[in-house]
Amino acid sequence: MRVLSGIQPTGRFHWGNYFGAIRQYIELQDEHEGYYFIANLHALTTIRDAERLRQLTLDAAIDLLALGLDPHKATLFVQSDVPQVTQLTWILMTCTPMGLLERCHAYKEKKERGLTADAGLFTYPVLMAADILAYDSNLVPVGQDQVQHIEVCRDLANSFNHHFGKAFVLPEARILSSAAKVPGTDGEKMSKSYNNTIEIFEDPKAQRKKIMRIQTDSRPMDQPKDPETDHLFQLFRLMATEEETQEMADLYRRGGFGYGQVKQALADAAERFFAEPRARRAELEKHPDTVRDILDAGATRARETAAEVLERVEQACGIAPSRVAAAKR
Ligand code: TYM
Repeated sequence: MRVLSGIQPTGRFHWGNYFGAIRQYIELQDEHEGYYFIANLHALTTIRDAERLRQLTLDAAIDLLALGLDPHKATLFVQSDVPQVTQLTWILMTCTPMGLLERCHAYKEKKERGLTADAGLFTYPVLMAADILAYDSNLVPVGQDQVQHIEVCRDLANSFNHHFGKAFVLPEARILSSAAKVPGTDGEKMSKSYNNTIEIFEDPKAQRKKIMRIQTDSRPMDQPKDPETDHLFQLFRLMATEEETQEMADLYRRGGFGYGQVKQALADAAERFFAEPRARRAELEKHPDTVRDILDAGATRARETAAEVLERVEQACGIAPSRVAAAKR
């Protein structure tokens, strides 16, 4: 089975990215063939600073490796290093109803907030479908917010297959119910665009300060509380051991505690949880060329797979490359 997922380098990775998605990449890499990429083409819809995008792309690769992605087991690459994906995007665009894209939440939300959207943002799900279909992916580990996009991908693949014969493999989303929607510092979904993130590799002191500022309600300390509906507890549970989680849940139900106490416990748990990746990251950061070599090798493998799929798709719809173009690939 082939597993694929992508992540945008629009900022440094946060807990939502890790618990919703990256943790799954790492779990799945032992048993399945994994393709994981840094979605810099998608990031272009928000970042308009070349140096910053280059740096965030490299940082993203370092973060993924530090968190445990193993380039001997999985293929790690940068989205734009595989031009077949953008070629495929056009082909898919010709099978994409406008209404389908109008219903997609990233575009809809921006429009509802009165912000101007460009065609890149509008057609974003088509590029994402091409990302998935270009590698005959079976399984796509993501957080809840990406499930709609994977449905779009399936719709487009079905539509193409219906018109031209079965050329695409249909993928399925994989979400972890325990972390499908990791809450941010305000209790809403943690997201760069909501400005409520806690970054994985943020300086520990700054991170603790941010944790201490997580919004909580003003119920009195001695009142018992339901841990299941509290976002601070949801975050704690992601990083604590079973035993610690149980103790904390009991404390919530008994009452007689302050949120400050929970926040300190959360900061301690986070520090412990990410201590090893943090140390690995510090090492990797000293060797950016090694990281670039890993990305280059990954891109070579990814291009080979995508070229085969593109050839099949072009044959199916009647735009098979001329012999000159084919020889250049
Ligand atoms: P992106 O970069 O916004 O997020 C990367 C991954 O992190 C997950 N995630 C979360 N999960 C749980 N709780 C949260 N608060 C949270 N915030 C983020 C996302 O669900 C995602 O899995 N369009 C994609 C990138 C992409 C892609 C692809 C993904 C491009 N092509 C092909 C899969 C397959 C995105 O913007 O993710």
